[in-house]
Amino acid sequence: MAEIDLLFRDVLIFDGAGGAPETGEVAVAGDLIVAVGQGLDVAAREVIDGAGRALSPGFIDVHTHDDAVVLSAAGLTPKLTQGVTSVVTGNCGISLAPGLPAGMDRPAPPLDLLGTAEAFAYPRFQDYLLALQDFRPSANVLPLVGHAVLRLRAMGDCDRPATAAEIRRMRADLAEALAAGAIGLSTGLAYPPARFADTEEVRELVSDVARAGGLWATHMRDERSGVVSAVAETLDIARRTGVRTLISHHKCCGAAAHGLSRTTLAMIAAARQEMSVDLDVYPYTASSTVLNSTFAGDSDTVTISWSEPHPCCAGRTLANIAAEWGVGEDVALERLRPGGAIYHQMCEDDLLQIMAFEPTLVGSDGLPRDERPHPRLWGSFPRVLGHYARERGVFAMETAIAKMTGRTAAVLGLPDRGLLREGFKADLVLFDPATIGDAATYDEPTRPAIGLSAVWVNGRAALRDGVPTGTRAGAVLGAAR
Ligand code: ZN
Ligand code: CU
Repeated sequence: MAEIDLLFRDVLIFDGAGGAPETGEVAVAGDLIVAVGQGLDVAAREVIDGAGRALSPGFIDVHTHDDAVVLSAAGLTPKLTQGVTSVVTGNCGISLAPGLPAGMDRPAPPLDLLGTAEAFAYPRFQDYLLALQDFRPSANVLPLVGHAVLRLRAMGDCDRPATAAEIRRMRADLAEALAAGAIGLSTGLAYPPARFADTEEVRELVSDVARAGGLWATHMRDERSGVVSAVAETLDIARRTGVRTLISHHKCCGAAAHGLSRTTLAMIAAARQEMSVDLDVYPYTASSTVLNSTFAGDSDTVTISWSEPHPCCAGRTLANIAAEWGVGEDVALERLRPGGAIYHQMCEDDLLQIMAFEPTLVGSDGLPRDERPHPRLWGSFPRVLGHYARERGVFAMETAIAKMTGRTAAVLGLPDRGLLREGFKADLVLFDPATIGDAATYDEPTRPAIGLSAVWVNGRAALRDGVPTGTRAGAVLGAAR
């Protein structure tokens, strides 16, 4: 056996495949897991006595907007403190690369969720990936390219379907991104500037993704009362192109949509018999994105998460601000733009249905740039394990872990991550299954999770005693080398 760098003793091993945990030992050499078993007694540079705590594969955050923060030293602290060792970036149609079109001096919403114009510093997708490899992020990164960016670059004026020539331009950018190492394409059809894309435009682009063996992640056209037809459109595109499809942050927003998850999940379950379609969810009944009057109209409460013209309004409700200003909520919302908000608009029953659905994966959809972020940024994974698995018994702990490790790796096509097995990469998280939980709330959204001891990324400690070590051992996955 190779020289052992790390030996975990007396750990409750959750292997990521969903089976019941077993107590044993795990040995790591370099960036690899080299042995998993019982009664393993080998010399090691460092021995960690688990004292019965849980060891599982590092969590994979399948839905993030971490495009910019992966390039900063402490940017992934909200993720490492949750046990996350890999992040998928570029979701909802928005990615930092390729760059903004010439002449656009500020990113159009929702691109501004990622940062200001300076952050969009990469003319080609390859430039972004090279910067990422040079910097070496603190967790592994799987980058998607965003359709809204391609659209802005190809069209300028986006309030209409694209012409054939514009689609050709988008396909050229898409080809560059896929060749450079993007794992696929994301669309955000609920947002301008993508809302005006017709099904045909999406199908043409997605066909290229299918041919390249990539993934299509979609924030569907409608997550409100029209969610059933949005699922139908998604499945139609998936069926016709054969692309591996991931429905992002599945939810039913607004009272008119409550209960529709029973219909959408039945459609997805039936479709899975004949095509590759998966979905993810975050464990909260409030959504969060840029300021949008349609979303606000469907919400019980709207809380401002950031506002460029009125930064001090972050954390206050729209109703309260409108009352103070003596204007209607629509007028207040306009004055607060550009900005973002948290929309309380889902019901717990739909969330439970979606989360408990066997294929559903966990993704945070955290917004790291927000002044007062939605607590999902700091709390999603421990909340699924603590609140939903341990406290409410929605599923077993091992099932919850599979939804953030083994199953996720399978959907992303990662051959050597997501399982705690010999020969797999040593992305690991050590935690106490009796206490792990989220501490971030809507009032205090940046409180780190509790019950997590340590995290390793590619065999190197990224978090010890709950504190990031500053080590950056992440890899860019999917990038050509
Ligand atoms: Zn989205
Ligand atoms: Cu998103």
